[in-house]
Amino acid sequence: MRSYAYLIITAVLLQNPIHVRAQQVAAIQISGERRINFDGNWRFHKGDAPGAENNGFDDSQWTLLRLPHDWAIEGPFEESFNPSTGGLPVSGTGWYRKTFLLPESAKGRVFTIMFDGAMSNSTVWLNGEELGGRPYGYSSFYFNLTPHLRYGSDPNVLAVRLQPEPDASRWYPGAGIYRNVWLDITAPVHVAEWGTYVTTPEVTDAKATVAIKAEIQNQSEHEAQVTIRNSVLDESGNAAGKPSTEKTAVSPEATRTVPTDLTVPDPHRWDMDHPYLYTVVTEVLDGDRVVDKYSTSFGIRTIAFDPEKGFLLNGKARKIHGVCLHHDLGALGAAVNWRATQRELEIMKAAGVNAVRTSHNPPSPELLELADRMGLVVMDESFDMWKIPKVPNGYSKYFDEWSERDLRDMVRRDRNHPSIILWSIGNEIPEQRSPDGWKEAKRLTDLFHDADPTRPTTSAMNDWENAIRTHFADNVDIKGFNYQPMHYEQIMKDHPGWVVYGSETESCVSSRGVYHLSLEAYEKPPSHEISSYDTVAPFWAYCPDVEFTYQDKLPNVFGEFVWTGFDYLGEPTPYFGWRDKDTAKDWPARSSYFGFVDLAGFPKDRYYLYQSEWTTKPMVHLLPHWNWQGHEGQTIPVMAYSNADEVELFVNGKSLGRKKRFGEIFEIPVGANVTPDRKFSSKYRFVWRVPYQPGSIKAVAYSGGKQVASQEIRTAGTPARIKLSADRSLIHADGDDLSYITVRVEDKDGNLCPDADNLVHFNVTGAGDIAGVDNGNEATTEPFHADHRKAYHGLALLIVRSRESAGRIHVVATGDGLAQAQLEIRTQSTVARK
Ligand code: GAL
Repeated sequence: MRSYAYLIITAVLLQNPIHVRAQQVAAIQISGERRINFDGNWRFHKGDAPGAENNGFDDSQWTLLRLPHDWAIEGPFEESFNPSTGGLPVSGTGWYRKTFLLPESAKGRVFTIMFDGAMSNSTVWLNGEELGGRPYGYSSFYFNLTPHLRYGSDPNVLAVRLQPEPDASRWYPGAGIYRNVWLDITAPVHVAEWGTYVTTPEVTDAKATVAIKAEIQNQSEHEAQVTIRNSVLDESGNAAGKPSTEKTAVSPEATRTVPTDLTVPDPHRWDMDHPYLYTVVTEVLDGDRVVDKYSTSFGIRTIAFDPEKGFLLNGKARKIHGVCLHHDLGALGAAVNWRATQRELEIMKAAGVNAVRTSHNPPSPELLELADRMGLVVMDESFDMWKIPKVPNGYSKYFDEWSERDLRDMVRRDRNHPSIILWSIGNEIPEQRSPDGWKEAKRLTDLFHDADPTRPTTSAMNDWENAIRTHFADNVDIKGFNYQPMHYEQIMKDHPGWVVYGSETESCVSSRGVYHLSLEAYEKPPSHEISSYDTVAPFWAYCPDVEFTYQDKLPNVFGEFVWTGFDYLGEPTPYFGWRDKDTAKDWPARSSYFGFVDLAGFPKDRYYLYQSEWTTKPMVHLLPHWNWQGHEGQTIPVMAYSNADEVELFVNGKSLGRKKRFGEIFEIPVGANVTPDRKFSSKYRFVWRVPYQPGSIKAVAYSGGKQVASQEIRTAGTPARIKLSADRSLIHADGDDLSYITVRVEDKDGNLCPDADNLVHFNVTGAGDIAGVDNGNEATTEPFHADHRKAYHGLALLIVRSRESAGRIHVVATGDGLAQAQLEIRTQSTVARK
């Protein structure tokens, strides 16, 4: 590949040295693969560039980069950029150009360019011809390049202009071609893009019927007589059941849907604990010759929603322990990355999470692929607004013209993922209050049903009384309510046939490692930190205990989606200054405090409260830290979160006795919409009040009388050393894989220094580079792209990215007055990536 590219590039340079530079020309080789990655060798320019769609345009001074790319994450953070979207430059114009050569031998093939997503208001040109564009940054879209392509030494230029507007989102959207780009190369007769629809209308232990609808597209001027062969492969690549063949004729420039039913004997179910995936391989044959081959991953499973039993997966009721996730990946911004997404989901799963709501937009294909593989179920959401705007330049500007197209494309792209169980027509749609809002709800529900009759629709309704009164709620299949656990029972009593769940819950806020006294304390600015005793929430929200109480009481409420699993960029509630454009006292709060994991991926205490409720593997988590210098003798609240029967607390070796799980009531503050007296009784925490003396606190958890888990926290001394630990020390040498390195500031005995904010410098050499740094602080303007980071409550994060050549990455971390640390990561081209 390399030498071939070199030959072509050299040839072109000789013929046409003016606008073709060696590094920016990609010579495309036709290898027989249907899809090739098209992320490499793009030129980028921030700002407008009139004429940049034309081939003669000189982009040699533009930045050469590899997609996915988010220009806004590079910063700088500025208050004027609007903290609600992360205080980052998410608007403006950006241009991308890619120059590539196609061999003469490629003539006669069909070329389709697929953008998984571009943020936003894109326009795409090939060789100066406008192909089209897409306003909604979360939609995937594609164009047929074939009519405008050039071959041989004549270069092609693909140009993309993005024009994201300010005030277009309620959170950080990112900016740029932030998802992957693919080039699909097919014969003129082929399976259309997203052209297979695989369902399993009949599933028993003995067999599953796999119904395949394959859209065969003929992009030629002649009628095509072809044979379509479908086979199902199991996870080992062996045939599962008998293949089928159908002969069909497809008219010129037309598409024909070919239906087939196959039988898979003794099917493995796709389930949360056993996410078994099959593949349908659809081949198009011209005579005996296979001219196209298209693979569709799918799962054999049944889903059902029942007013009494809730959500059933393969006939078994499963409570949804879900999280809402926005799409940004912390320090990497919105730029999609397989490993970053996988890590996020791994961290979620370890808390007992079994479901993700893609708030409030279609997700990356990678997230869905990972959910399929990891056994997470997904609520796939379309919109955050319809016609009534929530922000001045939001989707409401495009809703009338684009909503059907965006919705249909979302379903076509995503419908084969077994993980998806619900289509959401929208989040907190203001039309739920309008007398006519139900009509739009019905239109969207009907569209979803038409595009995919196998899954119900839902909507995340926050104004429950109005949504019911206006019949908005009647026009979705499954009723999702945001922040209404205290009304579930009444709603279900009034509407016995309804299936109800918490589409968005909690919105509790906290900063990792921060504990304010007293327990309920909420310190106003200039503090931009919120206590992690897990009792603080904005007025519409509440702490996890409230939702747990109602979910436990009402088994037919089939679960919840916590706002949110991870912190995300933007929406730094409760530092609301951005709402009235007066951020003076609230800046630099620029990311959310809602996550039970911080932006760097470090769990906050709340993470373990969920773990205690959602998992059974014995665990105990103790809080706060034990460094209360100056508070000697003062009573400090100590809490444990555990799923064990009992927890015993030891203070400096002395037992304060065992407490039984659910054995005591702890009063937490809540908003007036939860209880009139703003108090709520929780049984979900073990709480002690301990007069402070330096030393140690230790929680020991017991089940069935036996010790099953323990945690000790010691008073830490002064910061003495850095400790580095990598989540993976062997990664793929593909220029994309990541190792996440936790940086801990410790005292001489290895205790975490809970107040440490030392500046740590990173020297990364060898086969990798720094992809980003972070520390989880929601209120800092330190850049994510840097070779240094301050610790935040003792921790920082370094993200290292592999290069394409295998080798060793050497990391050295240094800080004033601290013993340095180093580690090595190996990169290998043989590590299986996905
Ligand atoms: C909800 C909304 C979310 C987020 C959250 C914060 O009302 O759906 O997008 O804004 O509030 O609590």
